Amino acid sequence: MARVIGGIGTSHIPQVGVAFDRHLQETPEWREFFAGYVPAQRWLERHRPDVAIVVYNDHGADLFIDKMPTFAVGVADRYPPGDEGWGPRPLPAAHGDPDLAWHIVESLVENEFDPMIAQELAVDHGFLVPMNLLWPGAWPVQVVPIAVNVIQHPVPTALRCYKLGRAIRAAVDSYPLDRKVVVIGTGGMSHQLHGERVGYLSRTFDEFFLDRLETDPLELTQITRRGYMERAGAEAVELIMWLTMRGALDERVERVHRFYMTPVSLSSAGLVVFENAPGAS
Ligand code: DHB
Ligand code: FE
Repeated sequence: MARVIGGIGTSHIPQVGVAFDRHLQETPEWREFFAGYVPAQRWLERHRPDVAIVVYNDHGADLFIDKMPTFAVGVADRYPPGDEGWGPRPLPAAHGDPDLAWHIVESLVENEFDPMIAQELAVDHGFLVPMNLLWPGAWPVQVVPIAVNVIQHPVPTALRCYKLGRAIRAAVDSYPLDRKVVVIGTGGMSHQLHGERVGYLSRTFDEFFLDRLETDPLELTQITRRGYMERAGAEAVELIMWLTMRGALDERVERVHRFYMTPVSLSSAGLVVFENAPGAS
């Protein structure tokens, strides 16, 4: 039987991909940031998941405002890096798990989630930067990318994203093959990339979000999309994807690691690693 062994939430700042490609991890500007991910890398080395379900958003590399699915599930064999405007990054394609991905699609539809089914999908920094940070070498996992619309309003509610996580969990729990699965939610934390409040950050909101994600995620599902944008910057609405990850975990979780740094590029950077609490169901 497949099982969810844990969940990871992380920001997906594109500038980090540039630093990664230029091998700047050990420079004074970047050392502290990259060091924050080492405990997550160690946890992954210890637990060796077979599959990563990566809940992310595309910022226009493949999915954009001309055709924007609210939710999309990748069922492909491989996911090449997309072109974000300066050519695809020099990274290999990520290996898919089409069998699990089709099972997830079928199970989601049974549970009244109706995602777009993507047989071809190029992935951008929303997917690639977390992969680089969590597995800085070759990627030892197969992936199932799940894209969420956080670009074209109306974007889904926080509660809907959390319920998507519950449905993903039901799909994994009903998959007959023996697979260890980690669920990753990317995006955020507080940031705003445009308009009068460009550069707006809120450490207060980010710390509140990290606390509640662990102990009371339902409180976070009650915050409106406008509430996320007003309290933490327009693009902070990306945090609803962390709630999908959290929905795929047990009600009670144990925190393995938490890291926070602000500012990084125009965002606050955050990372959490959760395991299902022992004895809970
Ligand atoms: C930044 C962060 C993002 O999540 C994003 O999608 C684009 C830019 C930033 O901080 O620069
Ligand atoms: Fe983003």
